[in-house]
This record gives sequence, C-alpha cells and structure tokens, in this order.
Amino acid sequence: MYTEGMKTTEDRSSMSAMRQSTDTLRVGVVGLGYVGVPLVNLAARKQHPVVGIDVDTKKIASLNTGAYKGTELYIQPEYLHKQQVSVGVDFSALRAVDVIVICVPTPVTKDFHPNLEPVKNACKAIAPHLQKGQLVVLESTVNPGVTRSIVVPLLEHAGLQAGRDFSVAHCPERINPGDTKWNVSNIPRVVGGLNQQSLELAQQFYASVLDAPLKPMQTLEEAEAVKIVENSFRDINIAFVNELARSFTRLNIDVVNVIEGASTKPFSFLAHYPGMGVGGHCIPVDPYYLIEQARANGFYHDFLSLARRINNDMPSFLFDRLGVALNEHKLPVNGTPVALLGLSYKPGVGDTRESPALVLLEKLQSAGADLHIFDPYIPERSTGTSLNSALKGAKVLVLATAHPEFGALDFMALKQDGLEIVVDGRNFFDKSAVQAAGLTYVGVGR
Ligand SMILES: NC(=O)c1ccc[n+]([C@@H]2O[C@H](COP(=O)([O-])OP(=O)(O)OC[C@H]3O[C@@H](n4cnc5c(N)ncnc54)[C@H](O)[C@@H]3O)[C@@H](O)[C@H]2O)c1
Repeated sequence: MYTEGMKTTEDRSSMSAMRQSTDTLRVGVVGLGYVGVPLVNLAARKQHPVVGIDVDTKKIASLNTGAYKGTELYIQPEYLHKQQVSVGVDFSALRAVDVIVICVPTPVTKDFHPNLEPVKNACKAIAPHLQKGQLVVLESTVNPGVTRSIVVPLLEHAGLQAGRDFSVAHCPERINPGDTKWNVSNIPRVVGGLNQQSLELAQQFYASVLDAPLKPMQTLEEAEAVKIVENSFRDINIAFVNELARSFTRLNIDVVNVIEGASTKPFSFLAHYPGMGVGGHCIPVDPYYLIEQARANGFYHDFLSLARRINNDMPSFLFDRLGVALNEHKLPVNGTPVALLGLSYKPGVGDTRESPALVLLEKLQSAGADLHIFDPYIPERSTGTSLNSALKGAKVLVLATAHPEFGALDFMALKQDGLEIVVDGRNFFDKSAVQAAGLTYVGVGR
C-alpha cells in the first residue's frame, strides 16, 4: 500500500501542480494519537491515500488489528480499515507522499518545562526522506517560534531549503476528545505558512479535508500563538473560579449558585465552573510553553503562572477539605475505606495525562487510605470490576471525574451501607440529595 500508485520523486511535479488535483493527495501523518488517528481517518475518507507513522510498535499493532480504542468519531477502527490507509514505523514511506503532517506530543517535564524532544525527533526522522515539492505541516501545539527556529532547520538538514525546495506550515489542532459535536472535521482552524506558497498549499490541503472554515494567519508565529492563547484563556478562567471556590468556602457561599446568578447577565460574563484541577495534554501544559519562551525573552507571565499554580493546587485543596470532614466524623484518613470514582482528566474518556485525580490518588495513598478505585474507562487501573464493588463498605466517596456512569447513585442506600462523606470534586452531584440522605457533602466551593 505504501508504494502502490505512488509517484516517484522524479515524476512528482511541484507542489503547485500537485494542487491541481487535491483529490489525489498522498498524506503522511507522523504521530498516531488523539490527534493523528482522527486525521488519518478523515484524510482517507476524503479519498487521500494515507500513510501513518509512529515510533510505538504496540500502537501500530493495535491499529493494524483494529484493537485501537477511542470515543471520537474519527477514531473508530472501522474508519481505518475501509480506507486507503497503511500504518507502520518506517519513515521512508514518507518519500512517496505530498503532505507530511506532524502530530507528535508536546508535553512538559515533571518540573513543568516544555519538552520538545518528540517534535525534534520526528523532524530528524523525517529529514532524510524529505523530497522536493513536499509540504510539511506541524499540528502539534508549540510556542511561537518553534516551527521556524526548530522544525525548519532540522528538516533542512537533508540539504533541501525550506520555502524553496519544500514548504512548511503550522496548523494547530483543536480536537476535543470525547466531544460528540466538535471533531477533527468540523472545528474551524487557523494556519500560518513559512512563505506565501507554504500558506497557499496548506490552505489547499486543509480545504480538501476539512468541512470547516480555515483562517490564514499572517505568520507561523501568529498561528502558533493562537493555540496557546486559547488554552491559556481557559486555564486562567478556570483558575479564577477555583480561587473563588477557595475564598467562598471560607465565606460559606455556594460558588456554583453565584456563577449561575452571574450568568443571568446577557453580556460580558462567560461562565466557568470550579473543580478539583485541570488535566489533559493541553490546558495544563500549553501555558508553560509561552511562559518559558517569554521568560527567555525577558518577560515574566505573572498572570499565566499564577493560574497554573492555582489550578495545580486544587487536588491539595480538596484533600484538605476531606481531612476536615473526616475529622468532624472522628475518622482518620489512615485505614478509612475510600471509594475513588474516576481517574481520567475528564468525563467519557480514558486519558489520564496530567489528571488531577492521580495527584489526589497519590495523596490518599500516602496518607494510608483504604482505597477502592473505579473508572469505567480505565479498567486496568481500577481495583474492582464495578462501581458497586468500589462503593461496598466505603465510608467516604470521592468523585474525581464526572463520568456519566456515576450519575445515578442512590445516596439513601449508600448511607444505609455505611457511607458518611461525599467529596464531590466536580460539583457533579445534587448537593441537596446528598445532604437529604444524611451524608456530609464536600464540594469545590459549595
Ligand atoms: N489530545 C488532545 O486533545 C489534543 C488536542 C489538540 C492538540 N493536541 C496537540 O497535538 C499533539 C499530539 O497530541 P496527542 O494527544 O495526539 O498525543 P498522543 O500522545 O495521543 O499521540 C502522539 C503519538 O506520537 C507518537 N510519537 C512520539 N514521538 C514520535 C516520533 N518521534 N515520531 C513518530 N511518532 C512519535 C507517540 O508514540 C504517540 O502515538 C500535541 O502537541 C498536543 O498538544 C492534542
């Protein structure tokens, strides 16, 4: 499948000629995760032959056997096999494509420094195979300047010159795993190019796969900044309501009721809700990329840094609140049976990257709680096989992820079984129903 019908280097004409028939573009996707796999499937559905490359041989095997799992529409295995797709670990397959899209991770280190190694490694692996006329697009989230100052020089290592021999663009992905409305196909995008030709080629490629508007940006750096700003905006707004939650706990005011009151204003207020922390591969990660880059250029992002600190502290806040509630019930953390519901960073997915539930888990573990864990999306990390088995005999219920499966609990019955305290890390339960059952309710700011 890699070579069948593919053009050779010699007979592939320039990108502009390639663009005359966008319906037959050969697409290479490097990095097959939450972002890469939906793109592979989307491009294939738009009749582009697709090569997917990843360094993880287990993942390649699971994609090839159809065992790869995900909730997003364009991640379903049946999309992969019915289309002209091949996946593997051999970067030389990229020689035969027209467009290479890089979708590798951009994490932070344990002490919150950007880790661009996957991006650098992907570029180094692509470079020897780069062909004249190809377009390389970086979709991974990066701080402004990475595409121009890191990606381009690594690709040029092959002796080809960016902007002359090959084109380069940045088109940040905005996918929201688990979202049933917004997906890789219908989310509007922005794109920036190294030069005019790069921009135009990228626009043509994305126009051939997306069913959504595409906004051209003036520069690569603007396109890179858009994504970081979007996620920082969300991080800051969540930090604000998390701070309110902490303050209102002292003032004995229900922050959720207040936010709902403020939401009646029809303009200039955008409701965000507090919770026990921010997780995932984007919101708690991306701001650090800007913070570090700005610092290297002599600017300190107080606001962004504070938001990160507030959100990172939320599992500790909830743990402390649990300690207060246990104390009131004359119970120690050590040895008390605690049902921890949810490990993933958000409802409906099994992704635990940067999940605050893991921070809380660690705190409960090191304090000696008798933990019973259940996450329906992560059976391998659950201690029991069902919700009921996790709740059996628990004195404390801690909800860390608002999975819909946790929505129908019978608090009266749980109280009869010995439950005393409900710690609602997502303000998910009906507080009055919990209290009406005679249980102590601990929410985030309520
Ligand atoms: N997950 C999201 O919701 C989301 C949304 C929008 C943007 N993004 C951004 O997209 C990028 C990818 O995120 P993701 O969630 O898909 O990551 P992921 O971890 O799910 O997948 C990345 C894949 O890249 C592979 N990989 C790592 N190094 C590689 C290399 N050198 N060569 C080839 N493959 C390599 C990994 O094995 C993995 O399979 C990140 O920059 C992220 O910030 C993620």
